[in-house]
Amino acid sequence: MIHPATPAGQPHGDPPPQLLPAGHPLVAGRTTQAPLLQAAAGRAVPHTPVWFMRQAGRSLPEYRRLREGVAMLEACFTPELVVEITHQPVRRHGVDAAIFFSDIVVPLRALGLDLDIVPGVGPVVAEPIRDAAGVAALRPLEADDVAPVLEAVTLLTAEGGPLGATPLIGFAGAPFTLASYLIEGGPSRDHARTKALMYGEPALWHDLADRLARIAGTFLRLQLLAGASAVQLFDSWAGALPAADYEALVLPHVRTALDSVQDLVAAHGVPRILFGVGTGELLATMSSAGSEVMGVDFRVPLDVAAERVRPGAALQGNLDPAVVMAPPAAVSARVDAVLAAARRAGRGHVFNLGHGVLPDSDPGVLTAIVEQVHAAGPVPAAPADGGEQADPGPW
Ligand code: CP3
Repeated sequence: MIHPATPAGQPHGDPPPQLLPAGHPLVAGRTTQAPLLQAAAGRAVPHTPVWFMRQAGRSLPEYRRLREGVAMLEACFTPELVVEITHQPVRRHGVDAAIFFSDIVVPLRALGLDLDIVPGVGPVVAEPIRDAAGVAALRPLEADDVAPVLEAVTLLTAEGGPLGATPLIGFAGAPFTLASYLIEGGPSRDHARTKALMYGEPALWHDLADRLARIAGTFLRLQLLAGASAVQLFDSWAGALPAADYEALVLPHVRTALDSVQDLVAAHGVPRILFGVGTGELLATMSSAGSEVMGVDFRVPLDVAAERVRPGAALQGNLDPAVVMAPPAAVSARVDAVLAAARRAGRGHVFNLGHGVLPDSDPGVLTAIVEQVHAAGPVPAAPADGGEQADPGPW
């Protein structure tokens, strides 16, 4: 595991009290009290924190203007654009977190892989990885590989920077989801080649997944050191797997990725969010990886999800992104239903959609959702349900 910020000479096994650099929002205290971090720890909040996956993107006219004539990956490696695009939804909607504008394939591109993000399609890989030589060529990620990306994180989160007290969520793609793009060569409905490799050549699969887990873990760690206050690991396509296969073939690698920042969780209270789509049957297994927050897609009500995820874990979700297209009264009723399910769940709750904002969404509806969630008012601490983090609440 790579620890880029571990000072030289730091004795192993003797963690320093402060791992994040001076001036980091969590060290300077700018984001420590943010509702996102409080809710992730199951503590009382003045209002439920809310942000949206894909809040920075095509639903915003100011985003579309900025991206005219600039390819997606080019934008991701241009710090000024990343800063502005990441800030746009925070400015417009008043969300409680910024999600870093980037993509799950950015670290792979930074490692020199020939891949592109094709509009309307997604990541496309020129030479898919399907054999031992391809896997062996995947080297570890280093800070220098993603220097412009980290510069953007620093610019966003520095004292006096645009985000101020709003926490930045860094992110990475989880091993299965990244592997699927690399093995299939692009988006896939059935992940057939990926599964063929997992089931047919388990040793090669574990080698690939381990390399991707370390790349993802390093990328999360680098974003935290540069100024992010929370991280999300996107295992978007994990729902394609039966729970037993997820447990045997994927979970150990998700753990590796999450463990890469375990010391920052312990020392600074950084929350780790784990999210996937169609993961109702996987929530218990996924949650055993130890993330502080479990992302829940829109198919499972939050109170049902609470019965599946590990004690003490908070929940994130889960308004169906398609609901944003419905008339205002229907949106409002569904937002209330999510908040009510969260109250029944008795867990820390971060309001979000059950997957990313659809490009045709009306941004005004998203702003109205933020206002409604905030207007719902204070939330007490989650009852101590066996989780170490939860304060004893009034319930
Ligand atoms: O606001 C945010 O969520 C921050 C940025 C973000 C992007 N991609 C920007 C983006 C995040 C967190 C991602 C993660 C990502 N990328 C995931 C996991 C999240 C999920 O949706 O499950 C996945 C699977 C990808 C791969 C990927 N990149 C896809 C499927 C697409 C969509 C292709 C398309 O055009 O429909 C992309 C491109 C992409 N990533 C866009 C954005 C804003 C759209 C490209 C554009 O605006 O030109």
